[in-house]
Amino acid sequence: MDTSWNLLDPAVMGDETTMHALFRQLREQDPVCRVEHPDFEPFWAITRHDDIKRISQNNAEFLNNPRTVLIQQEFERALLEKFGTRNGLETLIHMDDPKHRKLRNVTRDWFKPGPVGKLRGDIETIARQYVDKMEAMGTECDFVRDIALLFPLRVIMSIIGVAPDEEAMMLKLTQELFGGQDPTQSRGGDVDDGMGVLMDFFAYFTAVVEDRKKNPTGDLASVLANALVDGEPMEQLDQISYFIITATAGHDTTSATISGGMKALLEHPEQLAKLRDNPDLAPQAAREMIRWVSPVRHMMRTTTEEITLRGKTLKAGDSLCLWYPSANRDSEAIDDPDRFDIERDNRNQLAFGYGGHMCLGQHLAILEVEVFFRELLPRLAHIEMSAEPEWVQAIFVGGLKSMPVRYAFYRQ
Ligand code: HEM
Repeated sequence: MDTSWNLLDPAVMGDETTMHALFRQLREQDPVCRVEHPDFEPFWAITRHDDIKRISQNNAEFLNNPRTVLIQQEFERALLEKFGTRNGLETLIHMDDPKHRKLRNVTRDWFKPGPVGKLRGDIETIARQYVDKMEAMGTECDFVRDIALLFPLRVIMSIIGVAPDEEAMMLKLTQELFGGQDPTQSRGGDVDDGMGVLMDFFAYFTAVVEDRKKNPTGDLASVLANALVDGEPMEQLDQISYFIITATAGHDTTSATISGGMKALLEHPEQLAKLRDNPDLAPQAAREMIRWVSPVRHMMRTTTEEITLRGKTLKAGDSLCLWYPSANRDSEAIDDPDRFDIERDNRNQLAFGYGGHMCLGQHLAILEVEVFFRELLPRLAHIEMSAEPEWVQAIFVGGLKSMPVRYAFYRQ
């Protein structure tokens, strides 16, 4: 079997060790690698930092539409039939300029460092609630399921304006969307199950839009429900897709970073001690955790004209798959990349992508990770893993599914 097929194997791509071994091999031996698999349309796997950065910043030559993430052909066909797009959704990541820029502008100001910084107090309050919960649970918990999955969910839901009692349903739908290939998280393995997940998202957010049109508040849902683009209300597919990308991209990625970041600290006790003793390192540590975890495994682009890349000829219309965790371990761009170092300069990392589509929520994500560890670490006297962690089986957004820990809080 061609080893490049492992890129499409959720069990390989879910697990940090096997995934990085595969990326190292591809970077060294075939950094622009043609992947042909019976279940997927062919694509080029791009694994070097420099190539990924250059492709990402050229949004005119490398388009997001029509192929944005790796989806099985059978499912892509069903989505095309039902929604008229290969992705089923029409979110920011599925669009190109000029439409992309216009829609990104709708929420751009919400996600700038200034306004996001004003959320710090609210995020601290939510983080403290989850640290209190961990303390109240005694000396053992599943750090992923009990804490890391829930804190960013509450943050993004409070920003969007979703009530706390609807969060469990939102978490389940997100896991079904991103963990669609994981037997314990997917609704079922077939196309109808995947469509069902999307339809549930649509039904939920359509009701939210109706509500905020009638009763606008100051929340992000009200901004999205009442936004005008070129003087007209947003198309329904665009609007509901906007909710879906904000709700889903806004928590699974950050949860994966907090749990993967905690795992990295446990495996590097000197870094844990350094962060606990120097809480002001938290913003830098958050960036290093994001590089280390790189929870978004890939995004795709489509070439508009023939190009030659590392000696390979890519035709107009070919698909390119950009593998971010690989870019972030490329020693040509990142010094000693397999060393977890909370003080490193992370300006060159690509976990948030690059160019016109670079993550809209990056400042929020960094703030959440920073605030969480600032709240937790000073209160923890001791923490260790109490069982082997488990990974979500996924090729798009990956991370830990479970990490049991044993710990002690300082007595207050
Ligand atoms: C550690 C956490 C996160 C990581 C690693 C991450 C990563 C990414 C990546 C790789 C992209 C695609 C960039 C590209 O194509 O060049 C992206 C796009 C996006 N992210 Fe994030 N993200 C994170 C957290 C968030 C949060 C908290 C939000 C909040 C809502 C968010 C919202 C978005 C949106 C809306 C886009 C689409 C932007 C566009 O296409 O214009 N993300 N993110």
